[in-house]
Formats: sequence, C-alpha cells, structure tokens
Amino acid sequence: MIEIVQTADGSNTLYNSEVGENYHSRNGALQESRHVFINTGLQYFLDRNSVVADVSILEVGFGTGLNFLLSADCCRSRQVRLNYTGIEAYPVGLDMLVAMGYDQYVSADVWERFMAVYPDSLLNAVVLNDYCQLQIAHSKLADFQSARQYDIIYFDAFASARQPEMWDEAAIAHTIQFLKPGGVFVTYAITGNLKRAVKALGCKVEKVPGAAGKREMLRAVKIV
Ligand SMILES: C[S@@+](CC[C@H](N)C(=O)[O-])C[C@H]1O[C@@H](n2cnc3c(N)ncnc32)[C@H](O)[C@@H]1O
Repeated sequence: MIEIVQTADGSNTLYNSEVGENYHSRNGALQESRHVFINTGLQYFLDRNSVVADVSILEVGFGTGLNFLLSADCCRSRQVRLNYTGIEAYPVGLDMLVAMGYDQYVSADVWERFMAVYPDSLLNAVVLNDYCQLQIAHSKLADFQSARQYDIIYFDAFASARQPEMWDEAAIAHTIQFLKPGGVFVTYAITGNLKRAVKALGCKVEKVPGAAGKREMLRAVKIV
C-alpha cells in the first residue's frame, strides 16, 4: 500500500496507492522541502526576526519527517532553538523511515537523535538535544487541539484533489488558529479558494514562486 519511490533529484518519497498520491513532489522531494518549507517558510521567518533565539513550528502531515529534519539542521546551524510539533494521522514505521535515506541530507547528530526518539516522540514531547524538541501528535488534523500557538505552520497535506477535506474552510480555520500574530503559514500549493480562506482569517497572502514543477505557492503572514 505504501512504497518508496525515487524522485527527479534522486531523493526518495513514499507513494500511497490507496490515496493515489506521493508524499512529496515527483520533481524532487528534497528540492521541494527545501524550497517550500525551509527557504520560503523557516528562513524567511528567521530573516524577518533576526533576534529570535527560539522558533516553534507546527506541521500538518509529518509523514517521513523530511521537513522536520531539514528544519532541525537549519536551526542548528543558525543557533536557534526549535520546538517542533508534527500532526500525523498515519505515522510511518521506523523501518521505512530508515530506508528513506534522509540521513545523507542532515548532520549525523540530528539524524541519530531523531532515530533514537522517533517512536517516543509519538507519545510525548522529546528533547533531541539542547536546541531541539519534537512532538508528533498521532491524530487527525480535525481532532488536534493545543493551547499553544506557533511561529510557523507548514501545511503539507495531500493534494486537495485527493483529500479535499484537508483544504476546506473549516480545516484551514482550524489550522490557522494555531498561528501567532506575525507568524508565517506556507504550503506548496495555491488556489483561489485557499487564498480567500487564509485572507478571511486575518492573514496577508502572498503568491510566491513554487518548487520545481509548480509555478506558484502560497505564503501568508498573520496580521491580527
Ligand atoms: C503530503 S504527505 C506529507 C509529507 C511529509 N510532510 C513528509 O515530509 O514526508 C501528507 C501526510 O498527511 C497525513 N495525513 C493524511 N490525512 C491526515 C489527517 N486527516 N490528519 C493529519 N494527517 C493526515 C498522511 O499520512 C501523510 O503523512
């Protein structure tokens, strides 16, 4: 039902035959993650807030953890402490995570600590090291609740053609409630409905260049 497939930049992704969808772009899983989430989301936020020593990220659709790994590595090199929460309804097994080969894209320290804590992080917040904490909420987006708000939201659901309920107004409103004022929301896609929904929730919406294979993507900053 779930198999590993190679993408155009040589990095691996997963294909879920039940949903009929890949976890990342077939034009390159690594390039997509770096472009959409790290450069357009995390680096953008850190560059706008150059004095911050801590950053918090909420990811919708934790999947293989590629976005987390690259974020942890980025924060490590920028000496920023990272508090990361992933929401994942169907966690990937540890054996499959190992087989993805993502260790080659991050420092050995980040990878080894991730491997050591991955199953535990599904139950509790775990400290990877002195600059990074991870929690994976084993939950559907609609059931996820939290008292906290985050600096950045990575919205990485399957495409709306496959999972429209993840992109409707209710799902987007449920997600954006967890974004701090001044916080940044990024996703790999952009549609008129998504732009309108995000704008109606008090965000300034930008259409920015997309990852390889996509002309545009959405970035929004919460203004209220
Ligand atoms: C596009 S993939 C995410 C890829 C992931 N960010 C990565 O780097 O591997 C979408 C993810 O959403 C998860 N998912 C599907 N339905 C969900 C739901 N209702 N709530 C939360 N996660 C869901 C899937 O299991 C899958 O891991």
